[in-house]
Amino acid sequence: MELIINGHRKQVEIEPDTPLLWVLRDELGMTGTKYGCGLAQCGACTVLVDGQVTRSCVTPVEAVVGAAVTTIEAVSDDPVGRRVVEAWVKHQVPQCGYCQSGQVMTATALLKQSEKPSEEEIAAAMVNLCRCGTYNAIAAAVRDVAGVKS
Ligand code: FES
Repeated sequence: MELIINGHRKQVEIEPDTPLLWVLRDELGMTGTKYGCGLAQCGACTVLVDGQVTRSCVTPVEAVVGAAVTTIEAVSDDPVGRRVVEAWVKHQVPQCGYCQSGQVMTATALLKQSEKPSEEEIAAAMVNLCRCGTYNAIAAAVRDVAGVKS
């Protein structure tokens, strides 16, 4: 089947029910997207599908045929994504880093949908788990991009 990943067309020969995460990591060698819980709970595997936050660990690859998939490898190609990454660096958000690609993708989707999200919108969107407890730094970085005072 043909996929559109980060603006490029990719051919993969794969069972249609294979989770998108494993196609990205094992077939395409894009290891920035992480396996966390495998149950769509933690958000480490978050990618964007047509701009929507999507848990790639439970998304069959056949479900994204014809859709635009964006991963952490290309998030900086997007102006909002670039600002998110810059804010992540400025606020030194990552600790171990394992959850962070999913966090950045989630923040990018939020800030593309809402330029100035409210505290409630930030809290509702930024639900990915972080075992290192970087939640305050994540919120500060999101507020920074949004131009909202902490
Ligand atoms: Fe370690 Fe989030 S930075 S899990």
